[in-house]
Amino acid sequence: MKGVFISLEGMEGTGKSTHAGLLAEFLRGQGHIVIQTAEPGGTPISLKIRELLLSLDSRDMDHMTELLLYNAARVQHINEVITPALRRGEIVITDRFSDSTLAYQGYGRGIDRQVIATLDAAATGSLRPDLTILLDIDVETGLRRNKAINKKDRLELEDITFHEKVRKGFLEIANQEPGRIRTISCSDSIESVFQKTKDIVVAFLDRLK
Ligand code: TMP
Repeated sequence: MKGVFISLEGMEGTGKSTHAGLLAEFLRGQGHIVIQTAEPGGTPISLKIRELLLSLDSRDMDHMTELLLYNAARVQHINEVITPALRRGEIVITDRFSDSTLAYQGYGRGIDRQVIATLDAAATGSLRPDLTILLDIDVETGLRRNKAINKKDRLELEDITFHEKVRKGFLEIANQEPGRIRTISCSDSIESVFQKTKDIVVAFLDRLK
């Protein structure tokens, strides 16, 4: 059986990693084998690239360097973790994938979408999640939540206009692919957001039976 590839997307402060963990735990409880992973990261090489990308020392990084590095980390992640797990028939849950690149480097940084699409096709071989959950939150609340947990990396320190563009990007991407991407508003409690996530994922897996 082919595995199932699920991504969680959204801007800062949506609680994506918490929800990825809750979803993985729930699906394991249902008897599935689940790999929970995240970008940029998931492999030793990708984690080194992550450090370079997010370090406050990298403030002079060119936007094109940034785009290439996110793609480089993704190649490693796909080859070492995602594809092997999908071949074994497992469920892969990743906290971020290509939609983040289009939202942050495309809509946020303003890099040409065609360049982003070309690099994405080269890096991913056009691998797409089967299902994407977009967790949406208004920018101020998201950034406030991140501040509360003292999360500070190079991209999070960008101004509010940058994050507004990223959010708009995610919402536009979701509008363009309603079959793959389901949007959930994160202003409610963790329990309510998780219930909605669970309902979407269970219905999706049922359709594959
Ligand atoms: P995280 O804090 O969710 O782990 O993500 C790290 C940061 O990297 C976050 O600010 C979003 C950003 N990012 C991009 O700009 N492009 C990408 O392709 C990915 C995967 C993440």
